[in-house]
Amino acid sequence: MPRVNRTAMLSLLIVSSSVFLLFQLYYYRKYVSKQPGPHILNPGGPLSSSHSQWQAVKKFLALAQHFRLPLFLADTAALSLLSQVALRQRERLLREPHCSFLCTGRPITSFALHANLWKYDPGFLMAAEQKGFELLELRGEDPRLASLDTLSGEEIPLYFLLRFRSYIIQVVFLYERSGNYLWHGALRLKAHMDRSFAPFRLLDYGRHAGAYDRPELILTVLDGLDVRVPRNLTHFLDQQQHAHFLECRYRDARNFLQLYPDDSSAAAVDFRRKAKSLLHLTAQTLTSLEIPFWLSSGTCLGWFRQCSIISYSRDVDIGIFISDFRPDIIAAFRDAGLSLKHKFGKVKDSLELSFQSDDIKLDIFFFYEDGDVVWNGGTQAKSGRKFKYVFPRFALCWAELLELKVRVPCETLDYVTANYGATWSIPVRSWDWKSSPSNVQENGVWPVDEWPELIQVY
Ligand SMILES: *[C@@H]1O[C@H](CO)[C@@H](O)[C@H](O)[C@H]1NC(C)=O
Repeated sequence: MPRVNRTAMLSLLIVSSSVFLLFQLYYYRKYVSKQPGPHILNPGGPLSSSHSQWQAVKKFLALAQHFRLPLFLADTAALSLLSQVALRQRERLLREPHCSFLCTGRPITSFALHANLWKYDPGFLMAAEQKGFELLELRGEDPRLASLDTLSGEEIPLYFLLRFRSYIIQVVFLYERSGNYLWHGALRLKAHMDRSFAPFRLLDYGRHAGAYDRPELILTVLDGLDVRVPRNLTHFLDQQQHAHFLECRYRDARNFLQLYPDDSSAAAVDFRRKAKSLLHLTAQTLTSLEIPFWLSSGTCLGWFRQCSIISYSRDVDIGIFISDFRPDIIAAFRDAGLSLKHKFGKVKDSLELSFQSDDIKLDIFFFYEDGDVVWNGGTQAKSGRKFKYVFPRFALCWAELLELKVRVPCETLDYVTANYGATWSIPVRSWDWKSSPSNVQENGVWPVDEWPELIQVY
């Protein structure tokens, strides 16, 4: 090809690409810059609808900042997206104005509000309305005032729902509870409320009450917006999955205590004080080992029936799934100042540990899953006889006992009924663990040559 032609070709290329560049610049100025907002990195839905989600969040955050709402992003979809992005990639993404995390393809974005740090300001809702949000505020009883002595009638705000176009911002009020955790209530619509205000089934929060550890927060820039998020995302999302909280049944407990007044003798008061400190120590020890446990037997009955400890029970009973067993559990309790009193069974069958603290015993029953039931074992030291206590399957929920956040079987009534029969609400002082429980079964005898290993009493 002759040299002249090549030069001409090059010039033509330069001219045409300059024209194209100019056109792009023009186009950008005319169309894109007029619509302030993010580009779409992963277009999951139509551009315009994702834009409105981002705009709803942006508007909301600007208001929230103005009214100093102590918020953090609690949206499971957005936080999951964020947790899946590698740290290095995140650095870059967070600085760019793409709607990568907040445009989740869901019509809701959830935030949590630390209610103890915010003085309720109705001006916030008025300002939101002026900015084009439609509002729904949901209130509920304040459980912090409920106790055996007083039943609260006071209502506190539990949720704000703000609607912008078809997007919902859910604000969950988190309250400090006396067991040093955060609590939110269940979202329940009153009769007069608009059931079509939001896709209520899709909300991350509100199907039931929830309990959370106070998360450590960090301020970050997400899709061009300043927002606080939990530092440990997987930990927060994990908690969110298992946050279901059960309030103690104070009304029933009060009725129970009117029929059977609590023992207020010095010995009973002393026992309750010791049981409380043993329960706190147990929770501390097992939490540090990341072993979940729940209140079992008499301790569970005490919570369920009277929101307290049964003063004549003389021990604290907890359950642990055998799949969560760790051999260092014994050393951990020893380090916490408890001494091993007995060890029955083995990891494969009917394991049971008992520790002594002052004059109270901590019984740890290990539970085995078997089809649609769950069971724990019992062993009679002198005869080697084995027993089995069978329960219907259950999930674990949070509850509060003696100013401690603890787990209980969510299906508490079924659990307690399995163990104590339909008359669980009538106190029984003479209790034989081998024959009294409704769910006890004979389970053979340990082979004599294995007794030294399977029946250890200290
Ligand atoms: C985050 O929490 C998980 C438990 O859910 C824990 O295993 C992990 O070590 C935590 N990560 C950091 C960086 O603290």
